[in-house]
Amino acid sequence: MMKNKKVLLGVTGGIAAYKACALTSKLVQQGADVRVVMTENATRFVSPLTFQALSRNHVYTDTFEEKDPKYISHIDTADWADIVILAPATANMIGKIASGIADDMLSTLLLATTAPVYVAPAMNVNMYSHPGVMNNMKKLEQWGYHFIEPGSGYLACGWIGKGRLEEPETIIATINEHIGTDQLLAGKQVLITAGPTREIIDPVRFFTNRSSGKMGFALAEAAARYGADVTLVAGPVHLETSHPNIRRINVISAADMYEAAVANFQDKDIVIKSAAVADYRPKHVHHQKMKKQPGNLSIEMERTTDILAALGERKTSQYLVGFAAETDKPLEYGKEKLKKKRLDAIVINNVGTEGAGFEGDTNIATYLNKKWHQDEIGLASKREVAERILRLIDRDIKDENRENSPSNR
Ligand code: CTP
Repeated sequence: MMKNKKVLLGVTGGIAAYKACALTSKLVQQGADVRVVMTENATRFVSPLTFQALSRNHVYTDTFEEKDPKYISHIDTADWADIVILAPATANMIGKIASGIADDMLSTLLLATTAPVYVAPAMNVNMYSHPGVMNNMKKLEQWGYHFIEPGSGYLACGWIGKGRLEEPETIIATINEHIGTDQLLAGKQVLITAGPTREIIDPVRFFTNRSSGKMGFALAEAAARYGADVTLVAGPVHLETSHPNIRRINVISAADMYEAAVANFQDKDIVIKSAAVADYRPKHVHHQKMKKQPGNLSIEMERTTDILAALGERKTSQYLVGFAAETDKPLEYGKEKLKKKRLDAIVINNVGTEGAGFEGDTNIATYLNKKWHQDEIGLASKREVAERILRLIDRDIKDENRENSPSNR
């Protein structure tokens, strides 16, 4: 994957800078053209000459070192890169990018580049878990930066914990895996439903649930990034979609969502129902505001249509994936839903667990396919969980195609 790739390696001032030497050497061995940019503090740990010898390229340290008057060095180098790796990334540099600060060659270049950026942090365990650093990393992740999480173990500062720069081999393997799945879903038609539904009682009141739509929107964005044409049926949420491959249909009630999902189902390759659909709606909708009366109020509710089950009945070649939000016996109930609704796979959330489920920016899930193969998706951002789910779906579709190919019959 690295062959002929133009890799810009940013090295910041931490003791793990020595590992960036091995990283440079391995990237070069794999055929990459590597240009190294160092912060001034990084040069206190390792000499630029080391990186120059390993990369066989000039090493950049100073924004104003303009060797060739034809080019503006930091912009030219930012445009040149196919990918950018920041390793080790100190808390300081992560903070600078998150704040839009460009006060040296590396930070300036990081703001100027449009190439994908892979950030491999390395710092003391307490610094790594500091809310300021955590917030900055979250911000960068939302902006599309890819993080290669540090490993746990003995740190140079004497502490034992998370903060050790990931090994060069693992950094390269993670990036390769990402590049390999770049256009994973190119040419695929994907339907995703997201968010809650709103069931009207009267002109000022409705029933709804805690779904924020974040997981479904993360799936839509990830599928679009993977090259799919995405139709996103969204309940009432306060979220934006920016990717040009996403066609968004806004709906309010379970009945609206049913109509939109059925109308957009037939030509799809993959259908993911992450929406939290109301199971009941008021039997009578009041057209005038209900006035309060003495005593208690009972509202009679009727069942809505189970959209996913209806799609399961109509299914031809679509790969149909449901979600299950559970607080009790998640696997058992998840399996039941998979069978009952004729799904190909189900993503089970234990919404009672911290870090999983509604409203938050992270999730924890179990992906279960119809062969009862189970994959655990540990605590990660909804963006990462979405990418993981799509990669698992793609794996299962490819496995099925292989099993059904004439040579395997
Ligand atoms: N679902 C649906 N239409 C409904 C209810 C649920 O399409 N009227 C879908 C959801 O989008 C989700 C899956 O069914 O993909 C499971 O939803 P969930 O709320 O976990 O379970 P239910 O099937 O509603 O069962 P229960 O509420 O009893 O757990």
